[in-house]
Amino acid sequence: MEQPDFRSMSFYQIWIRSFCDGNGDGIGDLYGVYDKLEYIRSLGVDAIWFSPIYPSPNADYGYDVSDYRNIHPDYGTLEQFRKVLDKAHSLGLKVILDLVINHTSDEHPWFQASCRDPHGPYGDYYIWRHPRKGKKGKLPNNWSSQFTGPAWEYAEGRGQYYLHLFAKKQPDLNMDNPQVRREIREIMRFWLDMGVDGFREDVITFISKHEGLPSGVPFLPVLNGMPFYKDGPNLLRYLREFRAVALEYGAIQIGEAPMGTVKEALRYVSGPDRVLDMLIQFDHMQADCFFTEFLHHPFSLRKLKRAFTRWQLGLADRGWNALYLENHDHPRVISRYGSERFRRESGTMLAAAYLFQQGCPFIYQGQELGMTNVRLPSIEDYLDVASHNLYRLLRHVSSDKARLKRIHRSSRDSARTPMQWTAGPNAGFSEAEPWFRVNDNYREINAEAEEADPQSVLRFYRRALALRKEEETLLYGSYREFFPRHRKLYMYERAWKGKRILVVCSFSAKPLPWSLPAGYAGEGELLLDNYPGEAAPGILRPYEAKVLRWS
Ligand code: GLC
Ligand code: CA
Repeated sequence: MEQPDFRSMSFYQIWIRSFCDGNGDGIGDLYGVYDKLEYIRSLGVDAIWFSPIYPSPNADYGYDVSDYRNIHPDYGTLEQFRKVLDKAHSLGLKVILDLVINHTSDEHPWFQASCRDPHGPYGDYYIWRHPRKGKKGKLPNNWSSQFTGPAWEYAEGRGQYYLHLFAKKQPDLNMDNPQVRREIREIMRFWLDMGVDGFREDVITFISKHEGLPSGVPFLPVLNGMPFYKDGPNLLRYLREFRAVALEYGAIQIGEAPMGTVKEALRYVSGPDRVLDMLIQFDHMQADCFFTEFLHHPFSLRKLKRAFTRWQLGLADRGWNALYLENHDHPRVISRYGSERFRRESGTMLAAAYLFQQGCPFIYQGQELGMTNVRLPSIEDYLDVASHNLYRLLRHVSSDKARLKRIHRSSRDSARTPMQWTAGPNAGFSEAEPWFRVNDNYREINAEAEEADPQSVLRFYRRALALRKEEETLLYGSYREFFPRHRKLYMYERAWKGKRILVVCSFSAKPLPWSLPAGYAGEGELLLDNYPGEAAPGILRPYEAKVLRWS
């Protein structure tokens, strides 16, 4: 079946547990989603990406799947999912699911069987190794988990270690086993047959491990061994097998590629034979950190711009970018790259900074409301496994207070608090006590208030997404950056068929002088601004963004 031309599409990401509670038990669910589909459509997006909604013990909130063909009872039933799917389709929204296949939950029946019987049909579904020198305690290699600590766990039942690149409760599947790949193709078919439109494929570039699982050169406590499991030797071949299934249905595939480079991306996303349509890469999420938010440094606009431009130019005419600033794995972007003091201004400016690049924008629930980081009083209040592992890892090197500060800044939970729908009880998320803390700022920041304010972040997202669709230049135009060394100004051009659009973004909390780049004259037509009225000529107000057209 023919794939849709996805280039004009934008996606809304739902992390269901915190989206909207429809049945009054304090947990977001598919009943809540059903009721909010019109809202989602009103943003002007074309598709929904659901973070995992499958049964899961929630060691990693859904990314530890215990049944690939069902819905978590907290979220509803298959029947309810079909209703959501039908209604979404009738509103013109496509639906893509998270395909989490690098690992399963340790509570998945495959893993349980694999533990029990090495010689049974599931014996080789996971990556099992004997301890080195046959001694328990001697790990098979020095790889570390992405969530810190060793990537190996001993299973008494088998007397062997299993590999887990993420949490202990997320054993890695052995993708070299053809039977495992067959299972995956069948899982894809199960959902595609139901009418699902595609997949976001979790850490997909990790699924092929190097032969012999060699130890890495130790350099950081969190990334040991990565060269031996990222972009592995059989990745392309395995992705081709999955691609064949997707294309039978015309399904869209978006792969997640932590630490992915442009060069690697081109291997997967270019040309008609591509094995993925887009890649979720992490470069631009490191403008205030090294590799992961745990290793913080002050925000650098130049680092951000370098990452943006590297991918815009790197994929130009060859691939298509997935554009995002937030998802369930990163703290809220206003709190990182913008300013909580200038929340509205920086929230809207950041939207302009990324939505008008070439690619498909992804918007994470609450981002369109300008939600900000939560700062909880104690580590006990945090639920994310990665945050707890980090806190434990640092126990000998920093004080409780310093560690908590680091959690405030880096925790994935910052973006996982319940959606703030209203200023009423529980932020309108639920009638019952919500499963996780609502950010105290919900009285000021919520969808109702954002709807009422013509200058709000929400209203700006709507205008910006509509503008992106109206202007072919913004969809297909070439990308060029100006003043790349400027520390406070981000300016880029999109050009197409004789038209030019300039996007001008101030990352300054103070008035910022600016001028047009060489080759530009006159005023340009103002298509969008995040402030009412005119500023003094040649000055951008704090976090001002302008979109100007020359035709
Ligand atoms: C991806 C997910 C993240 C999860 C990890 C392991 O990075 O986005 O939430 O923890 O994979 O599945
Ligand atoms: Ca519920």
